[in-house]
Amino acid sequence: MNYNLSEMFGVKDEVTVITGSANGIGKEVALSMASLGAKVILIDISNDNLNITVNEFMKLGLTVDSYETDITKKDSVVATVNQIIEKYNKVDILINCAGVCYLEDAVDFDEKKWDWVMDVNVKGTMLTCQAFGKHMIKQQKGKIVNFSSVRGLQGRAKYLAYAPSKGAINMLTKSLATEWAKYNINVNAIAPAFTLTDLNKNMLKDDETYNWVISRIPTGSLGELKYMAGATVFLCSKAAEFINGHILYVDGGWTAS
Ligand SMILES: NC(=O)c1ccc[n+]([C@@H]2O[C@H](COP(=O)([O-])OP(=O)(O)OC[C@H]3O[C@@H](n4cnc5c(N)ncnc54)[C@H](O)[C@@H]3O)[C@@H](O)[C@H]2O)c1
Repeated sequence: MNYNLSEMFGVKDEVTVITGSANGIGKEVALSMASLGAKVILIDISNDNLNITVNEFMKLGLTVDSYETDITKKDSVVATVNQIIEKYNKVDILINCAGVCYLEDAVDFDEKKWDWVMDVNVKGTMLTCQAFGKHMIKQQKGKIVNFSSVRGLQGRAKYLAYAPSKGAINMLTKSLATEWAKYNINVNAIAPAFTLTDLNKNMLKDDETYNWVISRIPTGSLGELKYMAGATVFLCSKAAEFINGHILYVDGGWTAS
């Protein structure tokens, strides 16, 4: 064996930027990466939640940096990227967890809500990929993990904006993977099934919806934050070097059934 497995699965010292990391899946991914020794940088639109999360890291003895950023605004993204590059001189890993969801009957769907979902989920992810990607191209090294959803594959009533936004994430991921492979940059996506966070806690309070969700997942359970974190760490590691343009369903078998 001419390789070291601990090294292959490690992310130590990797400069890792995570969007939407003041809450939910992004925060869990950030905690996992930091606990494995990555240099973690949190990006989120909510400064209050960033402060709370940074305090949690400090209590755990983990080092972390944070930048309030609205990923839908190019100026905001570029200003943050410039500060990060000034401070760290490079970016090894970008994990795009920021995302929003709005559900409504198609005929009543509010145009502004459509724009909001598309701006955060699609344009925001594109802007961070573009701004950090430029530096990864210069470095000839990088790993990007975007957050899709099982909804990127399967439509459902009321998901008029969210499902297309995640379908777009899948194709954005594959397009960038194809274009940037020659620069030694891997671009992949994680597609979770229901994992309890602020994004869906109100929806899952409804017994009928909860029971339907559980009945759709062959494992008979919701996703857990630790499974999303584990799959993301894997895609960021050297062990995933030959995985590119892949949509990894972390869904308990939802899309298999
Ligand atoms: N939780 C699930 O069941 C589930 C399932 C499938 C896909 N996903 C996807 O996983 C990702 C994370 O979801 P989550 O459940 O952790 O959601 P969450 O609501 O808990 O966290 C999302 C984070 O994104 C941040 N954010 C929103 N708009 C932003 C903006 N303009 N700029 C910067 N940050 C912004 C929020 O402040 C929040 O901290 C999303 O892309 C979501 O679509 C989640």
